[in-house]
Amino acid sequence: MDNSPDKSPAARGRTVNGGVPVAPAAVLFDAYGTLFDVYSVGLLAEQLFAGRGEALALLWRDKQIEYTRLVTMSAPDGSRYRPFWDITRAALRFAASRLGLTLGSDAEDRLMNQYRALSAFPDVREVLGQLKALGVTTGILSNGDPAMLGVAVRSAGIEALLDHVISVEPVRAFKTDPRAYGLGPATLGLAARQILFVSSNGWDAIGATWYGYTTLWVNRAGLPLEQLDTAPTRTGASLRDVLGFFPAAVAT
Ligand code: LAC
Repeated sequence: MDNSPDKSPAARGRTVNGGVPVAPAAVLFDAYGTLFDVYSVGLLAEQLFAGRGEALALLWRDKQIEYTRLVTMSAPDGSRYRPFWDITRAALRFAASRLGLTLGSDAEDRLMNQYRALSAFPDVREVLGQLKALGVTTGILSNGDPAMLGVAVRSAGIEALLDHVISVEPVRAFKTDPRAYGLGPATLGLAARQILFVSSNGWDAIGATWYGYTTLWVNRAGLPLEQLDTAPTRTGASLRDVLGFFPAAVAT
């Protein structure tokens, strides 16, 4: 009889030894704000609208997420769904108008193009590379539509470090809808608790925790925890905290 430990992906992410967790079998990352720095568009916004760039970037992001919820909650059949790219443009138009900024088509196109090719945070390549070296399955689970995610992943040069790029588009529902989170376990063939879901968005970390994932909230901005009586499995300050879930990485 083979008594060696079961190291198959399906065996990881379970608890053994009376509840001591073993390493997750896979890691799924949120994209915008987690791997890709959404606030980097603030630099261009500041060039275009001196003194208002940060306000525009922040309101743009908030309105974008609000619109995802609006279209998802208003029609469970997905009939109000629009690709994240369209929602992003609509949110930009609202944010500019709300701040009293005149957004010509040239400025709109420049900001949208900037959003398409966002910078990746500096720790992304190293963390994904280490996960690959450990043989851990990696991927993105994002509200972004497939075309948008494809460009972002290629322009950040991280294509080879990701096994899956999962868009919510097939279910026509944005996170935090359970159908959106359900794409992770369905694609990977794993239970949600075997998958580490990583997000820098506090609301996303809570939604994923409620869904059943093992979660890491990368709280780069030092924001307060969402006050909804739920904490992510762990909270960190950098993407490197992902590696803390993998004893083999910590040991090296
Ligand atoms: C995403 C947004 C929520 O990538 O950041 O899904």
